[in-house]
Amino acid sequence: MTEIVLAHQVDLKTWRKAARHYALAGVPPETLSWRVAQSVAEAQQVFQSGPAEQKDPNAVLHLPRRLVEWILLGLQAPHPERFDALYRLVFRVVRDHLDLTTALEDPDVRAVVEFAEAVKAETERFRLEFARIFADPAQTVWSATPTAYLVEGNAAYCMARYARPWEIRTHYRSMKWDGKALWFGAGSTEPMAEPQGGWQQAGQGMWQDWPRTVLVPDAVEVETTASLDALGAEAMDCRSCTLWRPASRTVFGEGSAAARVMLVGEQPGDQEDQAGRPFVGPAGQVLERALEEAGLSRSSVYVTNAVKHFRFTWRNGRRLHQKPEQESVQACQMWLDAERRLIQPALIVMMGVTAAQSLLHRPVTISRERSRIFPLGEGSQGLVTVHPSYLLRLPSEADKQREYARFVEDLGRVKTFIDSLA
Ligand code: URA
Repeated sequence: MTEIVLAHQVDLKTWRKAARHYALAGVPPETLSWRVAQSVAEAQQVFQSGPAEQKDPNAVLHLPRRLVEWILLGLQAPHPERFDALYRLVFRVVRDHLDLTTALEDPDVRAVVEFAEAVKAETERFRLEFARIFADPAQTVWSATPTAYLVEGNAAYCMARYARPWEIRTHYRSMKWDGKALWFGAGSTEPMAEPQGGWQQAGQGMWQDWPRTVLVPDAVEVETTASLDALGAEAMDCRSCTLWRPASRTVFGEGSAAARVMLVGEQPGDQEDQAGRPFVGPAGQVLERALEEAGLSRSSVYVTNAVKHFRFTWRNGRRLHQKPEQESVQACQMWLDAERRLIQPALIVMMGVTAAQSLLHRPVTISRERSRIFPLGEGSQGLVTVHPSYLLRLPSEADKQREYARFVEDLGRVKTFIDSLA
């Protein structure tokens, strides 16, 4: 019997290296046993030495995509036998050419699919709870009790959902984001104590490879999601256009599901992309001031964008805003539709051309259509106005003041309309 020791519960690097080596060498699953290191010292040692090297370093193991997905989720299942079950399936696919599309009743396949599905369901719960807990800005540490080894796999989600620092403690792992870097430590249920052995930075030592859980939402899921929190959680893994790759994170809408007014902008800017919140940069400051002057508070409205990722180009070391392409506006339409369905605002304020076109589905000239309240369908009225960043770009101070006053007037119309409903 050959024993393979993994450095930690989701040590993808060692598991993958060992599985590849033994599967290509034709080593049967019953001759291997898998376990996790029992101490930090053993883990470090395992990680440095690693499992046996492949005889032929150029040999490649081709696995079906769905098996790779099951492995990434299955490795996080709370069962010691998962390493063996996953290897057994890899071995059978490689040696017996087991066809996964027709073998769904095969006991090995069923076991692995069950692991993967349970982890997926637990991940969805964990993400929602994370979003709920840290929605309170005063909350900095969360003692979580997940039933799967899913903390590491959700690091990217957690960093995207809240850019500000947070810390998670579970029985098997501690994880913290200090706003710049990600750190892992031993499990601890004592939120205030340092984890045993201290913190290790992600990307260093044994924290180089773990399964990253990406739950790409499809249109049907988005159309049927029952709460704004769940919708925001799903949006973090959106891949519907190419903007997710260069952007830091999805910047989802913000505000109460009970808001009567929904304000729609174009796309997050540089500061929004970093903070993970819409309208927090210069345009957001103009908007907030204008809302207040019109008698509306930001907390009483829902604020979102037609496109949820920042599109930019690098110039002289700075990220400069670029107008989103039609492809992204269209791809993001499902999120805006879903926000609308869940909020059912009485009035939707379209700030700028991108927002107006995304809601009206036709070319729009702001100067021709602004300041009127008109039926928008689905029980909402609409109002078109300028985008606050247009006010920032005006060259003369006199123009700025005049246009700002018109913007405040438009928001005043919103206030009068909402008051008339009461
Ligand atoms: N401009 C927008 O349209 N949205 C933001 O969130 C910030 C700037």
